[in-house]
Amino acid sequence: MYPEKSIYLPQVATITKANMMTKVDRYFEFELEGGKDLGHKPGQFAEISIPGIGEAPISISSSPNLKGKFEMVIRNVGVVTNALHNLSVGSTVGVRGPYGTHFPMEKLKGRDLVFVSGGIGLVPMRSAIHYALENRKDYGRIMILFGARDITQRLFVDELAAWSKQSDIEFLETVDVGNPDWKGNVGVITTLFSKIKDFHAANTTAFVVGPPVMYKFVIVELFKMDMSKSNIIVSLERHMKCGVGKCGHCQINRVYVCQEGPVFALDAISELREAI
Ligand SMILES: Cc1cc2nc3c(=O)[nH]c(=O)nc-3n(C[C@H](O)[C@H](O)[C@H](O)COP(=O)(O)OP(=O)(O)OC[C@H]3O[C@@H](n4cnc5c(N)ncnc54)[C@H](O)[C@@H]3O)c2cc1C
Ligand code: FES
Repeated sequence: MYPEKSIYLPQVATITKANMMTKVDRYFEFELEGGKDLGHKPGQFAEISIPGIGEAPISISSSPNLKGKFEMVIRNVGVVTNALHNLSVGSTVGVRGPYGTHFPMEKLKGRDLVFVSGGIGLVPMRSAIHYALENRKDYGRIMILFGARDITQRLFVDELAAWSKQSDIEFLETVDVGNPDWKGNVGVITTLFSKIKDFHAANTTAFVVGPPVMYKFVIVELFKMDMSKSNIIVSLERHMKCGVGKCGHCQINRVYVCQEGPVFALDAISELREAI
């Protein structure tokens, strides 16, 4: 029997919705027993487990304001994620968490926000975007930049379409590789930055989440726009196992990414070799 407050003790969650978003990415909505809230903040993750198979850290994609349920998008890359893809609505999983640091949405009230996400990086970013849009009056300009490899890799396509029509946000999207069906921008995500006009670096906080290769190029662009390291927030994905600072799998030098991250201000990790 686990002690009452064991950090390893999972709660039971039921899959209430599931559908494929791309060939490899599956959207899930989960409900905890008794309709409890997971109690997360934007940018945090949880460990999702299947008994007898294993567990995997997965970002929470919904806003904390979505009550009684939470959303994730899981890419099928290996043992646990494949088993999760094979579950149906009504199946149950274990959930530990939420864990990790979060985007400091409260502290950023009054500031302009630019969200820069590549590929599956939109999944954790979406929690912060939803939160900012739900509290629209608390923030200045909201700019959302999203890049996918090609049109088959775009996630949450209905939401992307809605954001592109929303007058109180600036939404810019690109795909690396075009297609006759795609009428939008073609090129890597950094090609979107020149489309942002009247940018006020001192009053802006940038959020960056994407594949490892994206960070250094996006950060260079942000520096060219006079952004300082302290106003750039990144979320880093490292291989994790326990999620609670016990196993060392996520360690970069002295830092346990599962505890001190995954969300970091860039100035806090710029001395950390291999972080970016
Ligand atoms: C904070 C955080 C948030 C995440 N959010 C999401 C998310 O929202 N959606 C999502 O789909 N994924 C997310 N991931 C990634 C996800 O956790 C992994 O894809 C998952 O753990 C893979 O588990 P698996 O058992 O399916 O794959 P595995 O069978 O473990 O293998 C997957 C691949 O990774 C390699 N691999 C596995 N472990 C290691 C290791 N320790 N070192 C090096 N290579 C290794 C394997 O060789 C294989 O190529 C997140 C990861 C972190 C740390
Ligand atoms: S994942 Fe185990 S110490 Fe961070």
